[in-house]
Amino acid sequence: MFQRIRYRLLLSYLMVFASLLGTFAIAVRVALTRSLTEQITDKLIAIGKGAAANVEFEKGRLTVESDFHPQDLITYHQALQWFDTQGNLITQQGQTVLTLPLLSNKMLQAQTGKIPIQAVTIPIMMSDNGELVGYVRVSQSLEEFDETFQKLDWGLGGGIIITLVLSSIGGILLTRQAMQPIEDNFKRLKQFTADASHELRSPLMAIKINAELPLEYPEEIGPKDAEKFQAIASATHQMTRLTEDLLMLARTDRVSNQNRDTLNLTSILENLIQLYKPQAEVKQINLTSQLIGNLQLIGNSVQLTRLFTNLVENALYYTPSGGVVEIKISRVASQLYVNVQDTGVGIAPEHIDKVFERFWRADQSRSYWSAGFGLGLAIAQAIAQNHGGLISVTSQLGIGSCFIVRLPTS
Ligand SMILES: Nc1ncnc2c1ncn2[C@@H]1O[C@H](COP(=O)(O)OP(=O)(O)OP(=O)(O)O)[C@@H](O)[C@H]1O
Ligand SMILES: [Mg+2]
Repeated sequence: MFQRIRYRLLLSYLMVFASLLGTFAIAVRVALTRSLTEQITDKLIAIGKGAAANVEFEKGRLTVESDFHPQDLITYHQALQWFDTQGNLITQQGQTVLTLPLLSNKMLQAQTGKIPIQAVTIPIMMSDNGELVGYVRVSQSLEEFDETFQKLDWGLGGGIIITLVLSSIGGILLTRQAMQPIEDNFKRLKQFTADASHELRSPLMAIKINAELPLEYPEEIGPKDAEKFQAIASATHQMTRLTEDLLMLARTDRVSNQNRDTLNLTSILENLIQLYKPQAEVKQINLTSQLIGNLQLIGNSVQLTRLFTNLVENALYYTPSGGVVEIKISRVASQLYVNVQDTGVGIAPEHIDKVFERFWRADQSRSYWSAGFGLGLAIAQAIAQNHGGLISVTSQLGIGSCFIVRLPTS
């Protein structure tokens, strides 16, 4: 149980941490991309202005000044293009030219593809009258930045993975440390329950004996007092059962290998059926079985008897007269399956998860003293788990229930 809580704690911790790291990485990536793009744009604008200053405009024709050497202005991964006012290309310089048409109303342009290119368009104005005579477009390949970003992505991704691995190691240690006091407390609580129920046994026994004694001489106490003593005796009997159940629950986890033997599950079930046949007959319930002979199992016979007793008692209790209760054994590989099936009142779907909870009963209004305490299935489940097995249940309201116990043979 604690193992599961630990895993869940660790998982949620890692999930929170991973999403924080992811957000951080994305933020870094976005901020860096933006600042780099801005830097490039600024640079391209400066180059564009330089290029725009080196043109001549004569008789409606735009030409690049003959003494202008664009190579001085641009590097190998940049390019220059001059356009007239209609957007027709006049001349260009450099490798990484944009093939897209000029968009005179848009200053920034980007071309995706094998090599991503970013471009800036600058209008060329005559210095004397401010007339628009053309455009110059400066572009730059983003190849080297792509490489940089790829490295950055790898770095961030790798960093996140390494951090997550390290933090899961830390998380394991931390959750272990955090769970320790809870586990200790739980153990102490269990010990307390065990001790308290153990200590309650003798006083309860004393009350029981003292209440039953006068009942043996009814002529001495009169019918009214006899009734009272009877009530005390039966209440004491119920309380004894409750303390026994609590003790059982508190102790099931602790049954170690020393209390385990090789035992015959078939004969345990046969004995149980013999024992409950009369009770079933009184209630006119057909108690039947389909057993396989001589099924060996390693476990504690007292506990396993208790487990199946609880299931059979429930089946008989929650099945009306004329019903059928069937006990079936089957074997699949190294697992034994015992089905206790009834044609009883069934369990509502919304209650099915609760039946194994301690003190849970479908009919809470019924007095504790008239039926059980709602510990029977909790005990049965604890015993099954203690044997490395499991109990599950399928049920349909008004039709019946089937409790399936799975037990490993070794
Ligand atoms: N075979 C069954 N058919 C229908 N309902 C069942 C069956 N077995 C258990 N239940 C429901 O599950 C509840 C819990 O069962 P559980 O055996 O734990 O307690 P209980 O029988 O009420 O009391 P206890 O077993 O402690 O004497 C029952 O009160 C009942 O509502
Ligand atoms: Mg019960």
